[in-house]
Amino acid sequence: MRGKVGIVGAGQVGAASGFLLAQTPGVDELILVDQDAARAASEASDISHAAAFGPAAQVTSGDYGDLAGAQLVVVAAGASLKPGQTRLDLLASNVKVVRAVLDQVLRVVPDAVLLFATNPVDVMPALAVRRFGVPPGRAIGTGCALDSARFRDRLARYLGVSPGSVHAYVLGEHGDSEVLHWSGAQAAGMPLLRFAEQIGRPLPAELRDSIASEVRGSAYRIKEGKGVSNYGIAGSVARLARSIVNDEQAVFSVSTFMEELLGVAETCVSLPHLLGARGASHPLLPEMDAAETAALRHSATLLHDAIRAGLA
Ligand code: LAC
Repeated sequence: MRGKVGIVGAGQVGAASGFLLAQTPGVDELILVDQDAARAASEASDISHAAAFGPAAQVTSGDYGDLAGAQLVVVAAGASLKPGQTRLDLLASNVKVVRAVLDQVLRVVPDAVLLFATNPVDVMPALAVRRFGVPPGRAIGTGCALDSARFRDRLARYLGVSPGSVHAYVLGEHGDSEVLHWSGAQAAGMPLLRFAEQIGRPLPAELRDSIASEVRGSAYRIKEGKGVSNYGIAGSVARLARSIVNDEQAVFSVSTFMEELLGVAETCVSLPHLLGARGASHPLLPEMDAAETAALRHSATLLHDAIRAGLA
């Protein structure tokens, strides 16, 4: 049913996502499901109280059966990154959790679009495709949508322009091997580096390197300070969900399972896709320079290996 969205996992990421989804245009009904039913009920109740202050979806909690009719199911169950861990360190434990979640969800809503936030997020679409037969376009990793937002935010703050005027993507793994697509970044209809020069805020190589490590390390810094990163990923979930439930066909850097990319078999990394009611379509390989292409191939290889290990 259009406008019905489920969230499995009512922890910090799932609850923050639920709060934003409840206020997302096109989301009419939201169901929170968690093994801790009391927690899901409390989060749903707390989120629904915000409805008194503005338009919001009907928010309830329930069990897997209550997902019936959902157009989209967000999977946010599993452990989150702890200080000192990489996302791939969560592979064994979270694949087990997500496999159990998919086993339940797909019995109730076999045709729903699945949007994964659980890390390592790029492995989860492969699990849905290879172990449950979900068509690749309907198993979407939030992937580098969040990293691209971080990249644009950081560039906008340095350049002194609105983030909405900066067009820049992060590709590859949602993780340490991600690729900032500098050569494709644009503003005002021109390459970003030229734009930066013309407004007197040049982006020399050492500054670009510093921005890249800042973007890649965002989650680690946030976790050092507050133990979890949840609002950025929740913002990504809500924006991607909006494109799906409203069939916007907007372009985002998200991850879907691919039989082959740049000569790497069976991988799942973020590329620009169109997002609409039937999920993600048209994974697009942008024009890249040689270094970016090599880095994306490396990222795809890392995820190929992680998928092989996780689905073994
Ligand atoms: C982050 C987590 C969601 O990047 O992977 O904040």
